[in-house]
Formats: sequence, C-alpha cells, structure tokens
Amino acid sequence: MAQLGLGIIGTGRIARSHLRSLAQSTEGKAVAVFDVIPERATQTAADFGLPYVARTLEDLLERRDVDAVIVCTPPTAHMAPTLTALDAGKHVLCEKPFALDPTEAERMVQAAERNQRYLAVCSARDRVGVGARVAHQLASSGALGKVYHVRSSTFRVRGRPGIDMFQDATWFIDKSKAGGGALIDIGVYRIDVMLWLLGNPRVTSVLCSTFQGIGKPAEPPLVQTVEDHAVVMFTCDNGSSGVLEISWASNMNGANQTIVLGTEAGLRFDPLTKITAGPNRLPIEERLIARPDNDHSDFGDVTIQFVRAILADQQPQTPARDALEVARVIDAAYRSAATGQAVTLPSSSGH
Ligand SMILES: NC(=O)c1ccc[n+]([C@@H]2O[C@H](COP(=O)([O-])OP(=O)(O)OC[C@H]3O[C@@H](n4cnc5c(N)ncnc54)[C@H](O)[C@@H]3O)[C@@H](O)[C@H]2O)c1
Repeated sequence: MAQLGLGIIGTGRIARSHLRSLAQSTEGKAVAVFDVIPERATQTAADFGLPYVARTLEDLLERRDVDAVIVCTPPTAHMAPTLTALDAGKHVLCEKPFALDPTEAERMVQAAERNQRYLAVCSARDRVGVGARVAHQLASSGALGKVYHVRSSTFRVRGRPGIDMFQDATWFIDKSKAGGGALIDIGVYRIDVMLWLLGNPRVTSVLCSTFQGIGKPAEPPLVQTVEDHAVVMFTCDNGSSGVLEISWASNMNGANQTIVLGTEAGLRFDPLTKITAGPNRLPIEERLIARPDNDHSDFGDVTIQFVRAILADQQPQTPARDALEVARVIDAAYRSAATGQAVTLPSSSGH
C-alpha cells in the first residue's frame, strides 16, 4: 500500500485539524467523511476538496478505498463507531479522551486485538514533542537512575470549552456527554505522558480533589456539570508516584511545569533541563535542547505518525492499550473526588 485512504467520522473542529495535517502529507489521503449532521460533512468535504460524503457510517465503512478511520466525535460517541470500524476491518485513530470509562476502553482494545487491526489514540499526543521524546529516552535508558516521581501542572486562565471558547460545542461542559471536565479533557494528555515517563507501570492508588466555580458561570439554560480544576496524586506498582494539577480555568500564569525525579538526575521541561547535584551540594543545570519542548517539526503529529505506522504495518507510537491505564486512573480519580477517599486499584489485570 503506497498511500493510506482515510475516512473521517465526525466533521467538527478537530476533524479539520486532522484534515489540515493530511493535506500536507503524500502518505495519507482523506477519501470520505461522515457526520450525523450531514451539512457539516458536506461543508467539510467542499472546504478540503474531499471526494465522498457518506450518508451513514456503514456507507463510509463499506468503501474499499477507506483503509483506516479517524474518530473525531464527542467522547460519548467514540466507542460505537470505533467498534463498528474495527469489526469492518479498518484501523482506527480515536480522538481523546479515548473512552468514558475503563469498561469502554477495554472493549475497544479487545475489538482491535480480535480483528487484528491497529487502534491508536490522540490522548498520547504529548509524547511527540521533542522534549518528551528526549526525556523518555533518558528515563528509559537508565540515564536518570530510577525514575521515582513525575509532577505536571497546567493552568489555563479562562479556557473552559463551551463557555470561554468553542461556544458551539457545549457538550464539553455536560458530564453525560464529555465524561468530566479539565481532568478527562486535557488531563488525559498529561497522565499519558507521566505514565510513559515512569515506564508505563500499573497505577495502584489514586487520590483526587476537583473544584468548579472559577470565572463567569455558563449562560442559562446551559449548566456546567463538570470540574474546572483537578489535582490527582497516584502511586504505582514499581514504587513510583505522580502528581497532576490541571485547570481549564484559574487565576494563574507562568506556573505550567513538568518535572521528572530520578535517583541520578532530574529533568525540568520547557526548556528541557537536566539537574544533578554538584560536588559542593549545589545543583548543576544542563540545558538539553535549544528548541521549545513542544516543537513537533521533525516528527510529524499524531495523525501523520499513525499513517506512517499503518503503512509500515507497525504499532503506532500512541497505542490504545496505554490509554486503557489512563482511563483507569481518570475513573478512579473521579470516584476519589466523589468520596474524598483514596481509591485502590488491583495491581495486575493482564496489562
Ligand atoms: N476542539 C479541540 O481543540 C480538540 C482538541 C483535541 C481533541 N478534541 C477532541 O475531538 C473530539 C471532537 O471534538 P470537536 O471539538 O471537534 O467537537 P465538535 O463538536 O466541533 O465536532 C464533533 C462532530 O461530531 C459529530 N458527531 C456527533 N456524534 C456523531 C456520530 N455518532 N457519528 C458521526 N458524527 C458525530 C457532530 O455532529 C460534530 O460535527 C472530542 O473527543 C474532543 O475532546 C478536540
């Protein structure tokens, strides 16, 4: 196969981002689109010069020129088209959050394995930045010693989708459609990269607190039923731990930071810097990359990486099996926030 034919399911905002990436690639070509709102699919096809607007999901999946699909629907509509596409023999790249809960995630992973198709996720997007890749290489090679802790903090000032931005996509603030707020929406990226840097351990306990009430409330009749802010602490079966602070809205700036602690060296992101103890007990700092950490230019984004991996018959670098662990952490975090108690998770289940 010289070129991968792709079908796009859901033609809203993020579908356009994938289509822009594909338009710059000779390896992948969008050949068909489908949306439950047909005018959106028609408009998207016109804007991007796409040859086919499918009338139904089945119509799109029956096409022989569709080798793979990108699922770009809201979270409540990720599982059904993903399962149908896998059963139709297509490879799938699914938008984040991969699943609303671990049961959904498990069903999707099992469907991929049963059909021997690749299933990749956009929630692993933070792995493709140059800073994350260098940090992962150092952590996994042992250059940092034993990596025992990762902390990640992200504070948007006013970035609640459905209220402060993307006002047409009000599903973001509806728990029944989105699964949650800042934690599941953007925390997925950070939890994925934190677990990746820790060596993809099993998470064994999770403590979480959430908060809502920052900024102007949603205009009635809209009601926000999800959190603005979450803090999560987790521990893992390899003795490591992580702390996440994640906010859609806050009165904070300049405090976004990711750090990695190893027994031999630590890392601070943005820009990626290695820190060790000098002979006089003072820290020695070594800046590792000159470019901003999130510069993806020599790697391509998740879309292109997915296309290349499928063409090479290789597992994409953002596999769904890893997203299953992220879904377990988020599910446990929301249960912890509801009760105020830490949630203990079983330390093995065939991961
Ligand atoms: N907007 C962003 O910046 C952004 C960034 C990264 C990821 N995402 C993720 O991408 C997904 C989509 O987000 P969006 O911002 O594009 O939403 P959106 O509301 O702009 O678009 C979603 C589209 O999916 C269609 N749709 C709904 N159910 C469908 C179904 N069953 N079959 C086919 N089409 C269906 C809707 O009609 C709509 O056109 C979400 O999971 C979101 O978290 C969004």
